[in-house]
Amino acid sequence: MTTLSTDMSSDDAVSAGRTFNFSAGPACLPEPVVRQAQQDLWNVRGSGIGICEHSHRGPVFDAILEEAVADCRAVGGISDDYEVLFLQGGATLQFGMIPMNFLPEDGVADYPDTGVWTSKAIKEAKAFGKVNVAFEGSACGYDHVPTREELSLSENAAYLHYCSNNTIFGTRFDAPPATDAPLICDASSEMFARPIDVAKHALIYAGAQKNLGPSGVALVIVHREFMGRAVRTPISMLDYAKHAKGGSRLNTPPTFGIYMMGLVFKWILAEGGLEAIEARNESKAKVLYDAIDGSGGFYRGVSRPECRSRMNVTFRLPSEDLEKAFVAEATAEGMDGLKGHRDAGGVRASIYNAFPVAGCERLASFMGGFASKHG
Ligand SMILES: Cc1ncc(COP(=O)(O)O)c(C=O)c1O
Repeated sequence: MTTLSTDMSSDDAVSAGRTFNFSAGPACLPEPVVRQAQQDLWNVRGSGIGICEHSHRGPVFDAILEEAVADCRAVGGISDDYEVLFLQGGATLQFGMIPMNFLPEDGVADYPDTGVWTSKAIKEAKAFGKVNVAFEGSACGYDHVPTREELSLSENAAYLHYCSNNTIFGTRFDAPPATDAPLICDASSEMFARPIDVAKHALIYAGAQKNLGPSGVALVIVHREFMGRAVRTPISMLDYAKHAKGGSRLNTPPTFGIYMMGLVFKWILAEGGLEAIEARNESKAKVLYDAIDGSGGFYRGVSRPECRSRMNVTFRLPSEDLEKAFVAEATAEGMDGLKGHRDAGGVRASIYNAFPVAGCERLASFMGGFASKHG
């Protein structure tokens, strides 16, 4: 494995000239990865050619792609029973590709609706077959994900599609929903933020731009046997098996995105793997949830406590005016991207893997000061 010239360990502080970036995505990337990319844009691996200027079929990119797949397998403990694919069209194309490939016209698929992104996935799936909305989250303002008892599953579902972390409302599944159907997971906003039991899943996908790299590439991990069950594949670019056969190079792939994801995988491994990443994510989220819970009701978490996301911490203030003032003052103090999603309102602090502990501490301290001033 090629080593990186940049030290891959993080010092967990924000460097001079950079701001604390709470954006929900595209989001902050690990600093050593960005620094390595700065060098490689000019001349990657001593080739005399920048990463964006290399042929996707040349030996330099061959090695980058091969390492990205191997490092992804190492990070996620992904066996050879699964294909690791780098596709285009973001997570949104997966909303359509999944039912197109795996939902037979006379079949049914289970979709718990836990937020805006699952609603979109449901809408796409309905174009191909029957969808059983196995949980109607809009009824509770998407403040939690379903318990086992709240899930109403169909018999012989072609698959169950769920979103492990709901980016907009800030909820997450502690564990995958229990079902006998093949499990499909949209892990876009928490891919590799904690260990993931790949073997429980038929397919896992994630747009890169939150935890894995820049926008423009989606990671898809699909079981080979499940992939073989595809029902209709009229267009090559929408056919998982063709992408797999072409080794993610059915056409010109997003080479820079794949290269960046490869660096992020190396960074995760250098950080100690998913257990270490999860431990840091837990402590980062705790800093913010403690600030909410300790505010005497000034801040109200959107998610029920048992479903709280460790990636997207969402909360409300006593009024929308105060929310606006909160975001404006925080921005002025070097904390960017805190405005809640337009569908949810309030405040959202997205604290993906690369986001530093120091930024959570800074925000918690700001929250305390703001509450004392306005509470
Ligand atoms: C959970 C989830 N799924 C899907 C998407 C859509 O991703 P993309 O923009 O890559 O299509 C997002 C984007 O924020 C998301 O958070």
